[in-house]
Amino acid sequence: MYSQLDRNRLPRHAAIIMDGNGRWAGALGLLRSAGHTAGVKTLKKILQTAVDLELEALTVYAFSTENWKRPLAEVDFLMHLFSEYLEKEKREMHENNVRIRFLGRTEEFSPLIQSQIRDAEQLMQNNTGVKFNIAANYGGQDEIVRAAKKIAARVLDGELALDQIDDKLFESELDTGESPPVDLVIRTGGDLRVSNFLLWQSAYAEFWFTQTNWPEFSPEEFIAALVDFGKRERRFGAIKST
Ligand code: FPP
Repeated sequence: MYSQLDRNRLPRHAAIIMDGNGRWAGALGLLRSAGHTAGVKTLKKILQTAVDLELEALTVYAFSTENWKRPLAEVDFLMHLFSEYLEKEKREMHENNVRIRFLGRTEEFSPLIQSQIRDAEQLMQNNTGVKFNIAANYGGQDEIVRAAKKIAARVLDGELALDQIDDKLFESELDTGESPPVDLVIRTGGDLRVSNFLLWQSAYAEFWFTQTNWPEFSPEEFIAALVDFGKRERRFGAIKST
């Protein structure tokens, strides 16, 4: 599969909705938590692939603002996994020159997780490799509303004039900051929806869906998605160039 990959036609920014952990576990008669644990292993492999391919940015959806509605035990388990993941993986990510950043309302997490997030972000803040964004307690509409509020506050402060507000300025106030626009959104687990993920950033993204549940998603399938992306003709609203 690697041989079919044209390195000049890779997405600058790939984003993944890691869905199907629970169904994968259920089909094997395991607890949903086992699905999430397996999901972390997949994430590790996919991040390594992004590092190997020198992707500019990879964003993954780890926890939505709606996920608090899950049973408390599952939410607690996911929090424990985030915490363990950060502790275990941050050194290796740092050695791989990864720059981690969290998107979403991280201030609603426990003080422990918030401090782990800050530590990891600080440790890697000057790294120049893959921009690795983890969307956690994230919702795309919520992100847009928060950006609008930050801009409104700057206007009220007299720091910004209404005429200075354009798409570039708006983008700079989103959680993704300096990551480029999303080129490719991958969703595992068979559902064909966007689920409030990176609504602004994926305005011109290509989409790639697979039935594979996240724990079984492999670097080979990731590369298949990237190969497919490389074959797409992107017009960004214009007509085909001749
Ligand atoms: C969707 O599967 C997955 C989640 C809500 C959590 C994603 C979390 C991980 C992949 C592991 C932890 C991540 C980090 C960053 C440590 P689902 O539970 O909705 O599956 P289902 O649709 O089959 O029920």
